[in-house]
Amino acid sequence: MCGIFGFIPGSNETASDVVDTCIKGLKQLEYRGYDSAGIAGIYKNEMQSCKSVGKIKSLQSAVEFEKLNLDMAIAHTRWATHGGLTNENAHPHFDEKTKLAVVHNGIIENHFELRKKLAAQDIKFYSETDTEVVAKLVSLYYDGDLKAAVQRAAKDIKGSYALALIHQDQPNLIVATARDCPLVLGLDPQTKSIFISSDTNAFLGRSLDVMFVKNEQLACITKHSIILYDAQGNMMDYKLEALGIDLHAITKNGFEHFMLKEIFEQPMTINRTIEGRFSEEFGTAQLGNLAIPTHVFQSAHHILILGCGTSWHAGHIAASMLESLARIPTQAEIASEFRYTNPIVSENTLVIAISQSGETADTLAAVREVQAKGAKVLGICNVKHSTLSRESDSCIYLKAGPEISVCSTKAFTSQLALLSLLTLHLARIRHMEKAQGQEFIRYLKKVPQLIEEVLNQAPKIEKLAKKYAKFEHFFFLGRQYMFPASLEAALKLKEISYLNATGYPAGEMKHGPIALISPDVAVIAMCGNKKTQDKMISNMMEVKSRGGPIMALAPEGNEEIATITEDVIWMPEDICDELACIPYSVAAQLFSYYIAKERNCEIDQPRNLAKSVTVE
Ligand code: M6R
Repeated sequence: MCGIFGFIPGSNETASDVVDTCIKGLKQLEYRGYDSAGIAGIYKNEMQSCKSVGKIKSLQSAVEFEKLNLDMAIAHTRWATHGGLTNENAHPHFDEKTKLAVVHNGIIENHFELRKKLAAQDIKFYSETDTEVVAKLVSLYYDGDLKAAVQRAAKDIKGSYALALIHQDQPNLIVATARDCPLVLGLDPQTKSIFISSDTNAFLGRSLDVMFVKNEQLACITKHSIILYDAQGNMMDYKLEALGIDLHAITKNGFEHFMLKEIFEQPMTINRTIEGRFSEEFGTAQLGNLAIPTHVFQSAHHILILGCGTSWHAGHIAASMLESLARIPTQAEIASEFRYTNPIVSENTLVIAISQSGETADTLAAVREVQAKGAKVLGICNVKHSTLSRESDSCIYLKAGPEISVCSTKAFTSQLALLSLLTLHLARIRHMEKAQGQEFIRYLKKVPQLIEEVLNQAPKIEKLAKKYAKFEHFFFLGRQYMFPASLEAALKLKEISYLNATGYPAGEMKHGPIALISPDVAVIAMCGNKKTQDKMISNMMEVKSRGGPIMALAPEGNEEIATITEDVIWMPEDICDELACIPYSVAAQLFSYYIAKERNCEIDQPRNLAKSVTVE
């Protein structure tokens, strides 16, 4: 989390353009955190800065009020890790003479120890952040050479970082360096302006040539020039690559929120995910040239899926699909927990790492762990050029387009679509009959149309959401594939409406949680699994008998469900159990969206969250 940005103008850009460019860049990075923001830079050889608690628009008002002009600058949008949401804790952080400034994404794990050492030398601290330690440490080592001071400080630092630093005495230089955090540099080939950012989103609308700063590398950026050094301090060659980005994808396109726009995009995004990736003739998937050799897929005895949050839910569903259709033992693990289990990974384990952003620190750490144990990692990712896409042995892209809302919607359904193709691929190279593969493709091809049918019910779902918005507690229940789908549905509701929502396996309620059922707890029953339908109905009856109000998402025309529940959202019926999660999840997304709207919540940027979680 946190986004860092930096800018050294090229020809034809003025000092007010610098501030404006940084504010625009930060706005594109705001999804990485929005607790506070700040900017520092050099103007006429003097350090100038401005910080503000809250979103970028409050920093924007502050810089306009102060009529801030800068010749070059570094900037930051914060997701608080160490210390509360105060101006003191906002980045940039400074040395004691306010000659050196730093912005940071990541976590300095030994900040406490370093702070103690520095404090023992009478160095004062003004914030609770880990980052201020970097400012003070680099300043301690500074003797006129910022690069050398940063290189020396990096040796003392444990943890992860993407850093950008400036010093008043070297007014034309930004030093940027990274360890286990993303950092990208962009050069405008026309004006020769140079941009520094946590990700390429900040470059939207510009045709830049870019390069990614790898672990322990350091870049010295001056007017028109980038010099790159390796971990040992040797100058390195590098290549810049042209970046092509679709600007249209980051507008709301008439929708009130990005989340709603992204929900409504799903028929199109699923089409983009599956288009050209299957063969009806052979009843199989065609996933392109994967860098992982076919024999690895053929000989895999075990599949391990890693991910966090929504991506883990997609992995959870895929694990059931892979076991059931491809007959490969599969486990989906929460990446942040997995690392500490002393995992057993053999050469016959295929690892699938799922991440929309490709920057989730927990997922990346787990990937590095299994790679160190010799496993091959297949990344499933939405963001091109992301760390996961670069570090995995092979990567398949969702092609869902930029997902701006912190609450993931279209990425989830594209993950499911892509994972179902991967399942088909693995099933067909093993034992699945062609006809069964063709049948699966028939269902998959229908999914975009089924989503349309759900979206057409948005007015009805909105009405129901208004009714249920008065509840403070929710259970989302499901069985088999619908269980992880209910986890995902509950996550959507809690993250954007701040309501207490729990996803639970319906059959497990009687083993404890049913004690919570009362007229004040809404139960949302996700009845999309044909195989477990009867059992699900029994579980709903058990809830009903205890006075719990139930709303079901159920296959069109199921009269029995209609008699048990207070309300039903009718769902398309002609879909196999494996793929039913997709339209059911779309209905649940709309339901959560409209509840959050009814409760006046901040939908696209919910409190305490960030889109890319780049700390462990
Ligand atoms: O970018 P990733 O898919 O790795 O992100 C993982 C989670 O942080 C993410 O899915 C999170 O749970 C979403 N906010 C859920 O809507």
